Amino acid sequence: MSEGWTERDSNTFIRDADCFVPERELLVESVCRLIPTRVDANLVVDLCCGDGKLSEAVLEAGKGSRVLALDGSAAMLEACARRTERYKDRIEIREFELGSQDWRRFAAPPRAIISTFAIHHLSDCAKRRLFRDMACQLVPGGVLVIADMIRPASEASTQLAAWQWDEAVMERSIQIRGDLSGFESFRSAKWNHHALEEPDPIDQPARLLDQLSWLSEAGLGSVDVHWSKGGMSLFSAVRPAN
Ligand SMILES: C[S@@+](CC[C@H](N)C(=O)[O-])C[C@H]1O[C@@H](n2cnc3c(N)ncnc32)[C@H](O)[C@@H]1O
Repeated sequence: MSEGWTERDSNTFIRDADCFVPERELLVESVCRLIPTRVDANLVVDLCCGDGKLSEAVLEAGKGSRVLALDGSAAMLEACARRTERYKDRIEIREFELGSQDWRRFAAPPRAIISTFAIHHLSDCAKRRLFRDMACQLVPGGVLVIADMIRPASEASTQLAAWQWDEAVMERSIQIRGDLSGFESFRSAKWNHHALEEPDPIDQPARLLDQLSWLSEAGLGSVDVHWSKGGMSLFSAVRPAN
């Protein structure tokens, strides 16, 4: 994996992601619901699959999907394999480098390419290139679905995002663990990008409006936003049917 995300980050995320990601269950379910079934393809590609929570949900949802789960972290790939063990006939798990070109042609055109909380590690130029490369791999009618941290459009919006994210993590920590340990970990790992005076340069979130226009520019249609909170958004775009 390129410099940036470390195995320490992977271990923190494996342990605490349920606290760190606001409305994580709703997001996972929403991504699954956006995957089309009325297309002549069954492959779903999960870019930066992490510990496989989303891939597992796609497999559980059935719809005949097969999953290609890609990530650059050995700890994440192992966790993903463990989590999806019961679906091993329908999932292929592989190491990749998100920013490189060598994985960008798939054995069959995917019905969906999905990615949660990872694409912000690429520069804007690389995100734009990724959108173009993924758009032409999709089957007509296939969808690109992204949930990610975004760059708020103003200082006021950044402050609001920072506050909403803190509030959400506090609430989830109490709900899930009955204490604030999840929030304490979020604070000590400096995970709230929007609250930091000097955010980690590995995080390069782009404005939502820019990302939507890059999807359009890549030839995709039905570009839409489905959810936003704490400086994070869920959005998607569809390859027009021939
Ligand atoms: C915040 S985690 C999200 C994991 C998963 N998508 C989820 O939502 O639970 C970011 C993931 O991106 C992966 N990642 C970050 N930069 C990467 C890169 N340059 N190439 C490959 N994987 C990368 C990390 O290993 C990690 O699994």
